Amino acid sequence: MWNDLGQRCLILISVVCVLSFGLANALNGFANAEGYPDISVTLPGQLKFVHVIYRHGDRTPVDPYPTDPWGDLKNWPTGWGQLTNIGKQEHYDLGKWLRKRYSSLLPSKYSDDDIYIQSTDVDRTLMSAQSNLAGLYEPQGEDIWNSDIKWQPIPVHTIPEKQDPILAAKAPCPAYDYELESLESSPEFKTMTEKHRDLFAYLSKKSGRSVKTFVDAQYLNNTLFIENLYNMTLPEWTKKAYGGEELTYVANFAFAISSYTRKLARLKAGPLLKDIFQRFADKSSGRLVPDRLMWVYSAHDTTISNVLNALKLFELHSPPYTACIMLELRVDEINMPLVSILYKNTTAEPLPLDIPGCGPSCPLKKLVDLYQDVLPVDWERECKLSTMMMTYEEANLGAATGIIAIALLFTSYGLMIYYRRRNYKLYTSYSQMA
Ligand SMILES: *[C@@H]1O[C@H](CO)[C@@H](O)[C@H](O)[C@H]1NC(C)=O
Ligand SMILES: *[C@@H]1O[C@H](CO)[C@@H](O)[C@H](O)[C@H]1NC(C)=O
Ligand SMILES: *[C@@H]1O[C@H](CO)[C@@H](O)[C@H](O)[C@H]1NC(C)=O
Repeated sequence: MWNDLGQRCLILISVVCVLSFGLANALNGFANAEGYPDISVTLPGQLKFVHVIYRHGDRTPVDPYPTDPWGDLKNWPTGWGQLTNIGKQEHYDLGKWLRKRYSSLLPSKYSDDDIYIQSTDVDRTLMSAQSNLAGLYEPQGEDIWNSDIKWQPIPVHTIPEKQDPILAAKAPCPAYDYELESLESSPEFKTMTEKHRDLFAYLSKKSGRSVKTFVDAQYLNNTLFIENLYNMTLPEWTKKAYGGEELTYVANFAFAISSYTRKLARLKAGPLLKDIFQRFADKSSGRLVPDRLMWVYSAHDTTISNVLNALKLFELHSPPYTACIMLELRVDEINMPLVSILYKNTTAEPLPLDIPGCGPSCPLKKLVDLYQDVLPVDWERECKLSTMMMTYEEANLGAATGIIAIALLFTSYGLMIYYRRRNYKLYTSYSQMA
C-alpha cells in the first residue's frame, strides 16, 4: 500500500515536473516587435462592429514621492490621480474622432441598442468615458433637452475593481500571482533588474522612496513626466536620470512585465480578449442581443499594453493618454467575418496592424486559433493554485494517505518552482533595445 502510493506519487511528481518544463518553454513565446508596416490598403468587407479600448486622458500624479517639491496637494487642486480639464478635452476630441471614423456604422442619435460603454471603477476612467461620449454623441434634434447644454447623459457601466476579472483585471487570481512571482525571482529576471541597480539606488536615495523594481521606477518616472508636462521645474538631481535612455527604457519595460509570458497574458488579458472574440462570433452569426455596433472599454495604460502584448503587437513604450485600440469586424461578399486591429496613440491616423501570421485583415476563425494560447477556457479554475497542476480531489487520495501526499506534492511544487525559475529564458529583443 505505502509502496504503491509512493510510486504513484513519484510518477505524479515526474509528470508535474515534465509538464512544468513544457509549460515554461511554451510560455516563452512573447511578442516580437511587429506592427506598423506600411499598409495603405483599404480593408476588404463591410464594417459591422467595433470594440474600442482606450486609456484615460491627462491626469494628476497618483502619488508624489517623499522629497517632491511639487508634492503638496495645493499644486494639484483636482486631487491625486484625477482627470484634469486637459484630459477631459483630450477625450472629448477622441470622441469626435471616433464619431468621424464610425459615422457610417454608428447612428449619431444615441440608442442603448447600438452601444455599450464599460469602464473600470476609477474616477479618471469613468470621467474619461463621459468626456468621450460628449464628443461621440452630441445631442441632436429631439434629444436636445436643454438648449444651453450640448451634452446628454449616457450610461457608463462599471463594477468594483476587485470583482472585475475582465477590464480592471483585479479580481484575485492566485495562479497569476504565482506565475508573476516565479518570473520575477528567476535568475534571468534578477540579472536584468541587477543591471539597473545603480539607477535604482540613485532614485531611492534622491526621491526618499525605495525603488527596487521596474514598476517602482515607472511610477517615479510618471510623476516626473507629469510635473514636467505641467511646466513645474524638476529638482536638479532628476537631470541625471529623467529623460535619459535608461530610465525611459526601464519605465517602458515595466509595461511588458504583467503580460510577459503567455500564461501571464492569458490570465491577465485573456478574459477581455475572450469576451471580445465571443462577441465578434455572436455578431457575425446573428446571435448578438441586442445587435450592437460598438462596445467601448475605458481603462488604463496597463490595459493597453497587456492587450497589445497578448496579441503579440506590443512595441515597448509607455501608452500615452487616450491611447486607443480598435478591433474592427468586417464581413466580406461571401459573409466571412474579418478582424482588423488598429492602434491610435498619436494624432496621426492609425493603420491596421499586421496581425502576426495573418496580416491586416484576419478571418475571425483564424484569429481565434492564432490566439488560442491566451484565451482561458475557465479563468476561475485556471486561477486556482491548488498545488498548481493537481487539486487534492484530482490526486484522488484517501484521507489517511492525504498527509503524505500533500508533503510530496509540496516537494514537487518546490522542485517545480526551482526548475521553472531556471527555465525562464528572457526576451532578448528587449535587452537589445536598452
Ligand atoms: C517616462 O518618461 C518619458 C520621458 O522621459 C516618457 O516618454 C514616458 O512616457 C514616461 N513613462 C511613464 C510611464 O510615465
Ligand atoms: C507648459 O508650457 C508650454 C509652453 O509655454 C505651454 O504650451 C503649455 O500649455 C504649458 N503646460 C501646461 C500644462 O500648463
Ligand atoms: C505608438 O505605438 C507604437 C507601436 O506600438 C510605438 O512604437 C510608439 O512608440 C508609440 N508612440 C507613442 C507616442 O506612444
